[in-house]
Amino acid sequence: MRGEKLSPAEVAVKPKMKTVKLIVVGFGTIGRGVLEVLSEKRRLVRERYGFDLQVSAVCEIDGSLINHQGVNVDSALRLAAAKKLRDHPDWKQKKSLEVIREVDADIVLELTPGNIRTGEPGLGHIRAAFESGKSVVTSNKSPLAKSFYELKALAEKKRVLFGYEATVGGAIPIINLYRDNLGINVVRSIYGILNGTSNFILTKMFEEDLSLATALKEAQELGIAETDPAYDIDGTDTAVKLVILANSIMDRHVSLEDVSVTGIEDITLESLELAKKHGFAIKLVGDVGSMEVSPRLVHLSHPLNVSGTLNAIMLDTDVAGTLTLVGHGAGKIETASSIFSDILNIAKAGGCGK
Ligand SMILES: NC(=O)c1ccc[n+]([C@@H]2O[C@H](COP(=O)([O-])OP(=O)(O)OC[C@H]3O[C@@H](n4cnc5c(N)ncnc54)[C@H](OP(=O)(O)O)[C@@H]3O)[C@@H](O)[C@H]2O)c1
Repeated sequence: MRGEKLSPAEVAVKPKMKTVKLIVVGFGTIGRGVLEVLSEKRRLVRERYGFDLQVSAVCEIDGSLINHQGVNVDSALRLAAAKKLRDHPDWKQKKSLEVIREVDADIVLELTPGNIRTGEPGLGHIRAAFESGKSVVTSNKSPLAKSFYELKALAEKKRVLFGYEATVGGAIPIINLYRDNLGINVVRSIYGILNGTSNFILTKMFEEDLSLATALKEAQELGIAETDPAYDIDGTDTAVKLVILANSIMDRHVSLEDVSVTGIEDITLESLELAKKHGFAIKLVGDVGSMEVSPRLVHLSHPLNVSGTLNAIMLDTDVAGTLTLVGHGAGKIETASSIFSDILNIAKAGGCGK
């Protein structure tokens, strides 16, 4: 749309606006980022696609905002920022599972943090959504790492759709790129830098000679690393993403136990100095081919030599050759780009379960 007035003929053929109702489960960094982007882009979505995206509920751990005519997104964001969400007139003492089952909606956005061993609470949320005929879009890795094939089968059985682009690589559209644009290809391997925090730390050590502890502290002060960054440093976060890529793109039927994992905790400034002398950097690389996460020497001119919090993913395919995608692997606005890509794909496919 160019924003100009429509002629009567154009008005006559303009399709009826379809309302797509969303339930947001988890109103932290990503949940709020999604609503910020929605507030900014709702009009664009109406004009470009003919969908009105409406938020029917926003679930927090101890209750939910529920409004069948649509939660006021801007007031929810304002009150959440002031830590006064519970003062919102739509606040109800209803927990996520009840809301997912009972509130009328097309798509559940599952945006909670997950336990990688159990997949909960996201696993229960996703199962409940599918069981009640709702599609799901998630940024939560744990349920996929734990039960990808079970969830895929349940979605198929219930004839709903499942989007999880945001679980790997933040803004990088790796999963949808494969599904939508590489259909004729066999993917031979996937490897890359899938964790922004460890890459930030390695970059700081390499470029500024900071110790691992100092670089980590800086990452935490900048809000890049989690309060508990153990999974970023020990390679587990990269391994979880490897499992998701292996199963969703290469149908490998693997789990976290199949990945050999070495983190960056033992990388020293001396080893980085030696690598640099020979024209290499050291990067934490996840490789689906060998199902391995480990620090590797990467030539300074190699496409995987990206700095700071950037992620880089390489796909080796038989027809398209090698593709490299580089972008922000985290961040509330960047990750929202992937979440909206799934929402729009589901809405366009009519996979709204109703
Ligand atoms: N941050 C990123 O850049 C990024 C990028 C890609 C993917 N992800 C993934 O996206 C998910 C969300 O990340 P985030 O950074 O937004 O985490 P976050 O800031 O910790 O927010 C998560 C929110 O979910 C709430 N929550 C926890 N359990 C819940 C439940 N049972 N029902 C309803 N709400 C519940 C939490 O409430 P309390 O605070 O009260 O516990 C919190 O408000 C995670 O799985 C993360 O790995 C994050």
